[in-house]
Amino acid sequence: MEQLGVIILAAGLGKRMRSTQPKVLHSLAGKPLLSRVIAATQRLHPDRLVVVVGHKAEEVQRVCGGEGIHFAIQREQRGTGDAVRSAQAALRDFQGDILIACGDTPLLTTTTLAQFVQEHHARKAALSVLTVELPDPGNYGRVIRTSTGQIVKIVEARDASAEERAVREINSGIYCVKASFLFPALEKLQPQNAQGEYYLTDIISQAVAAGLPTQAVLTKNAHEVEGINSREELAVMEKTRQAQLRSHWMSMGVTLEDPDTVYIGEDVTIGQDTVIGPNTQLKGKTTIGSRCRIDGSAYIEDCTIGEDVQVYFSVVLRESELGNHTSVGPFAHLRGGATLATKAEIGNFVEVKKSYIGEHSKAKHLAYLGDAEVGRDSNIGAGTITCNYDGFTKQKTKIGDRVQVGSDTTLIAPITIADDVYIATATTVRQDVPAGALVFNTREEQTRAGWTAAKRAKEAAKKAS
Ligand code: UD1
Ligand code: CA
Repeated sequence: MEQLGVIILAAGLGKRMRSTQPKVLHSLAGKPLLSRVIAATQRLHPDRLVVVVGHKAEEVQRVCGGEGIHFAIQREQRGTGDAVRSAQAALRDFQGDILIACGDTPLLTTTTLAQFVQEHHARKAALSVLTVELPDPGNYGRVIRTSTGQIVKIVEARDASAEERAVREINSGIYCVKASFLFPALEKLQPQNAQGEYYLTDIISQAVAAGLPTQAVLTKNAHEVEGINSREELAVMEKTRQAQLRSHWMSMGVTLEDPDTVYIGEDVTIGQDTVIGPNTQLKGKTTIGSRCRIDGSAYIEDCTIGEDVQVYFSVVLRESELGNHTSVGPFAHLRGGATLATKAEIGNFVEVKKSYIGEHSKAKHLAYLGDAEVGRDSNIGAGTITCNYDGFTKQKTKIGDRVQVGSDTTLIAPITIADDVYIATATTVRQDVPAGALVFNTREEQTRAGWTAAKRAKEAAKKAS
């Protein structure tokens, strides 16, 4: 088997995005454009994968790096030919074919790439370029063929004659090239064109002149090679991708009550017979099990949700884990490592942060649980606050099994409430409570009969004088 190398070009800034962020780090369905291209090529199992970076190189490497991904730096953006040349050191001694793609074509699929590489092998080509026909070829490079259909060269729109500009077959920017031809050919490039750049596309006329087998492979999947150059193009593509993702999940047995209002990230998974209401955003690495119900107006990011979970109307859930048969909301906020064990219930106006809520335990109304660990079958009353922060450090609250926390309880952390404790309503707990104890504050209740009328009379007299 021939070796296969991959070079992905991602050094440009992408001026038309008008962004301080490199274009390839902008996201489609929550996944950076470049990460999508990397993933599509990785599924070909290449022997080496090199990404050429330049603009904000470190940031791009941090966001898109991973096992088996090599980076090459192009210091100055002197054109696509120069960019590929920057990858040469990373592919030294490499035999076989090199697949070249751009980091700004996020819809590229592995299937299309695999077919293209196969076509390259089948024809024993030295150079293959993937092309598509567009009704409006815009700024893309035009594919110039002889009358018998043999490719001659690619000319950029700016360098093309009127006749050449009329050609509707364009260069996708995806190539498969024999390494033994590619790198020597790059040395011969000249920046003689409208942009004064080293054009990768000029290696085609070189291959033709050398009499090497060169082909243009026309694909029907034009949308796959669409490049992103502006925010508007990105928005249009996002709309298309969202429609695809929604169709996909519906075909997998998920009900979307009002599909157009549901946003689904690329790395989200949803189980069968789960029902998702309107205005729901599912983002990041979120996994939702089977038979869940999400009422709607929910923001869910980086969460793992089990089976048969009820998410009532209007919640924000981030970096949290919801076990099977749990329920959350309406109007609840789980964040930063909240974990609900099986059958736990979190109700209205409850915020849970970095806390574990044990099996069948409940906090149904108006509470803040931060840095807390709650055992099983415990009940957290309305208005309970874990006072976890003294302005300097965060402290832990531990609550055991079968604990009854009365309404309006403040728990001053660090504190441990053992099993079977009963905390009376309106208690401020400052010290650890042993198992089975009752804890309450002594505050004598006093009643003054007729106090209101006397007070009002006094105030009225003050006003009159
Ligand atoms: C290029 C092709 C054009 C093709 C189009 C397909 C050339 C000369 N033209 O044009 O024929 O139709 O892609 O999308 O190749 N890059 C670098 N370093 C550079 C310049 C570019 O890494 O010095 C990267 C960019 O980050 C981008 C990719 O190469 O990911 C393509 O560059 P871009 O400037 O967008 O090329 P186009 O003008 O679109
Ligand atoms: Ca482009």
